[in-house]
Amino acid sequence: MAKITLDLFRYDEAVDEVPHRDRVDIEFPETSTVLDALEYAKAEVDGSITFRRSCRSAICGSCSMNINGVTGLACKTPLKSVLRKDNSVAVDPMPNFEPMKDMVVHMDPFWDKYSRLKPYLQPFDRDEDHERERRVSPEDMKKLVAVANCVMCATCYALCPVVSVDPSFAGPAAIAYAYRFIEDVRDSKRKERIGQISDDYLWLCAHCYACSYCPKHVEPQDDIIAVKRASIQEGLTDAPGPRHALVVSKTIKQSGMLNENEVIVGTVGRFNFKGLVKIMPLGLRMAMKGKVPPLFLHPVDRIDEIRTIYDTLEVPVSA
Ligand code: SF4
Ligand code: SF4
Ligand code: FES
Repeated sequence: MAKITLDLFRYDEAVDEVPHRDRVDIEFPETSTVLDALEYAKAEVDGSITFRRSCRSAICGSCSMNINGVTGLACKTPLKSVLRKDNSVAVDPMPNFEPMKDMVVHMDPFWDKYSRLKPYLQPFDRDEDHERERRVSPEDMKKLVAVANCVMCATCYALCPVVSVDPSFAGPAAIAYAYRFIEDVRDSKRKERIGQISDDYLWLCAHCYACSYCPKHVEPQDDIIAVKRASIQEGLTDAPGPRHALVVSKTIKQSGMLNENEVIVGTVGRFNFKGLVKIMPLGLRMAMKGKVPPLFLHPVDRIDEIRTIYDTLEVPVSA
């Protein structure tokens, strides 16, 4: 047993104007989880402490919260691994959500984005046309195994810096789930699904990899890259995001370097005169500060090696 202090975020939207913190002292085995400690504090010290949980086994996805500033599943986080020097642990609600009561948050934006995906199989034919289940080859199934582990805990969503600055962004879990259906050979709505997730600002993802801290190892950051690639393959390239990706890829293949002039014009759109006029003041300011990149770039030494990498990976470069 160890003397442990739970440093808790306390707030009830029904009565409190601002949140406050409570320090709750308990004697508890360090080998337990943060969720066990919260359960004990609620049962033995203060029954009003509020948090979501169900399975206690990292399966239901309910108990995601901020533990010493890092979002994760409380039932999967050993106390020992997070105790601070003074044997305390700070517990807060997930960021990127409005708090409702203590660690419980309003999950609606997360679920709304998930529902928009129509997260169910929409096959080419009817169930009645099949004598038995629709078979999927092991190779095709392999692509879906990781994302099938998603428990919709929203940890990744809470960690995403793009969601925090632009809440209209779908977020990593929704894009990973879009990937789950886009790559399912039984589903008939591949193009519609890619279009829908693109409309939900797929291309805002900055590839910061913060969402790689997924308690179920779904790796949504990889699924996002796959969905972006699929959107280019499906020809959905008439938007700043895909244009940017294609022109960056093209200039690096050409010279081994980023041609920033090309990237700006290519991203805005070569024939988007309104957009080009809009960025002219920026160009002028850069020119006045002597920051205009060179117009022409000579290919770097051993450019052939870079092009070989492209050819090997079959990266599309038609901007
Ligand atoms: S991808 Fe991982 S972190 Fe995100 S909701 Fe699913 S299980 Fe949770
Ligand atoms: S990789 Fe993209 S989705 Fe994941 S946290 Fe970063 S910006 Fe958000
Ligand atoms: S209680 Fe179910 S995931 Fe933690």
